[in-house]
Amino acid sequence: MDERKRLEELRLLLNEHSHLYYVLDDPQISDGEYDRLFQELLEIEEDHPDWISPDSPSQRVGGVALDKFDQVEHRLPMLSLENAFDDQDLHAFEDRLLRFLLTDKAPAYMTEPKLDGLAVELVYENGLLIQGSTRGDGIIGEDITAQLRTVPSIPLRLRKRDIPRLEVRGEVFMDRGGLDKLNRQRAKDGEPLFANPRNAAAGSLRQLDPKITAQRPLRFFVYGIAEAADTKCANQQEMFKLLADLGLPVNSLTRYCPDMSTVIARFAELSSLRHDLAYEIDGMVVKVNDFSLQIRLGAKSRAPRWAIAYKFPAIQATTKILKVDFQVGRTGAITPVAILAPVDVGGVMVSRATLHNGDEILRKDLRTGDTVLIQRAGDVIPEIVKAVVDKRNGSEKAIVFPQLCPVCSHPLVKPEGEAVTRCPNPHCPAQRLASLVHFCSKAGLDIEGLGKKSVEQLFNLKLIRDLPDIFQLKKEDLATLEGWGDKSADNALTGIDAAKTPGLSRFLAALGIRYVGEVTAALLERSFHSLEKLFELKIVDLLEIEGLGEQAAKSIVDYFSDASVREMMEKLHEAGVRPLVMEEEEGDLLLSGEVFLFTGSLKKMSRTEAKKLVKDNGGQIASGITKKLTCLVVGEKPGSKLQKAQEKGKKVLTEDEFLLLLNR
Ligand code: IVH
Repeated sequence: MDERKRLEELRLLLNEHSHLYYVLDDPQISDGEYDRLFQELLEIEEDHPDWISPDSPSQRVGGVALDKFDQVEHRLPMLSLENAFDDQDLHAFEDRLLRFLLTDKAPAYMTEPKLDGLAVELVYENGLLIQGSTRGDGIIGEDITAQLRTVPSIPLRLRKRDIPRLEVRGEVFMDRGGLDKLNRQRAKDGEPLFANPRNAAAGSLRQLDPKITAQRPLRFFVYGIAEAADTKCANQQEMFKLLADLGLPVNSLTRYCPDMSTVIARFAELSSLRHDLAYEIDGMVVKVNDFSLQIRLGAKSRAPRWAIAYKFPAIQATTKILKVDFQVGRTGAITPVAILAPVDVGGVMVSRATLHNGDEILRKDLRTGDTVLIQRAGDVIPEIVKAVVDKRNGSEKAIVFPQLCPVCSHPLVKPEGEAVTRCPNPHCPAQRLASLVHFCSKAGLDIEGLGKKSVEQLFNLKLIRDLPDIFQLKKEDLATLEGWGDKSADNALTGIDAAKTPGLSRFLAALGIRYVGEVTAALLERSFHSLEKLFELKIVDLLEIEGLGEQAAKSIVDYFSDASVREMMEKLHEAGVRPLVMEEEEGDLLLSGEVFLFTGSLKKMSRTEAKKLVKDNGGQIASGITKKLTCLVVGEKPGSKLQKAQEKGKKVLTEDEFLLLLNR
């Protein structure tokens, strides 16, 4: 037979058998036979490298290691889910639906297990997998195409090619067996163990080298399509059938429930079933079945109105307090942390739990050596419920709160009426380090390349001692450090450069002033419009601001009247740091009151830039062709949105007209 034909045949055969094995869990040939076919394919491809196609089974691990992930903007935001914890919450969910739909006819639902892994989006064009990404913040995720290609149950090609573009969403996870095996290996290699399947999945997908991802036993289940209206399906059931026909792995525990009482019965069933499943689930997702209702219901900012996650109740376990560590936080707060004998709490290894503060220790009467009941509910950090007093044998020791800071030995203070004990020494290395970490973190200026580990490293090497030092870093300081290279040094320096012009409120929140989070920082920016003004403020000026309390006012005045803060700001200024102030009130801006949406590919700017232009000019961004939408901007090859917008009589602009509108 002609080699070329044989290659195509092998490709089809292997893809078919891997679908049978990984997706349908129904292998039809032995592993040995599969390996033989695979070997044959590799040999032909080796002789004819130009015949290799991206959907060849040999191309799952073709990618090279990256030095960072690119960003991917999701065409439609990847939302999260609201939670229900009891039947009452479910009824309340249904009541909200009915009120929103102005009807008393309850809808039918589909229920699915809630998998404990990582949400990803896969984009198929004409049947070919062209992009895979993480959820990220819902709008912008990371491009992990090469990593996702290594997951055997993710098809590289769909079984039908007649869909120009399909954006599917689902969960990548690791089953219990896979996680156990991986953790056993990691223990042998002296590497830290993954605490739960979600961490394991995330840790494996966020490997810059896809060859490492390929060695991790990852699985995938699809649970949806970015936009229901993109398919001809009428409901969830039809969509699942379509997805399965396309060769995507759908979860077999998905059930149609004609009403809420069936949903509740199904939850009980899943609860008793869950421990026998090969993978961990943390609840059941309930979705309105009908797509036309889903579309009418739409979404709030973070979650759709038509779905809810019914979570399994907290799981408890008992273990022992081995000792208590005292950690020093960014504001000097001392947090006692119980170090526990590691224990499995519903599949998650727990070895630490925060004790919050000294009062909490007294209130719960906890002692070192105590047997304690701990619990974990959903995603939250495990907590100690109580000591099991019956198990005491007299060897338990009182937990003594230190008098001196465990890091700098400065005497600690506990203000009257407050629960928190603090180290008041602003020069305490632990506080300085924690402030630096916060300043660079996502909650701060989000400086790329300066994550917690790097900041710790630079701090320990005394390369950065305070905030201004960050902006003095040179390439030669970084490139030669352990774990760094030319590329990572350049990357960090680009990140640092970009951080020189943050918005004022972002900058203020990054400083880590006590009681000044994102919201208060925004209030300060809006009220005073400049950093300089903040140095002249008195408490009374601040108290005039609605939404800003006395504690925050005092903390702000204290902070800005400190001579060392002034000195630090001067150094930051010298280093080129210029917090920017958003100009003007909303009502006066060019696009105030306008709600924009972009479709098709833009030629003169990226989507992100376009959206930023809208927002900077006082406009808003719509999530789709919604009622609120006032204007659609079309780039090249616009999709179905253009027609929909025209039908609804919305204003439509080309990219050039949009720029003209903004005088650009
Ligand atoms: S639907 C628009 N279905 O749960 C609906 N999510 O808390 C968005 N998840 O980020 C999600 N299993 O990672 C959906 N069957 C399922 C799911 C599921 C797990 C995760 C997903 C999502 C998170 C929301």
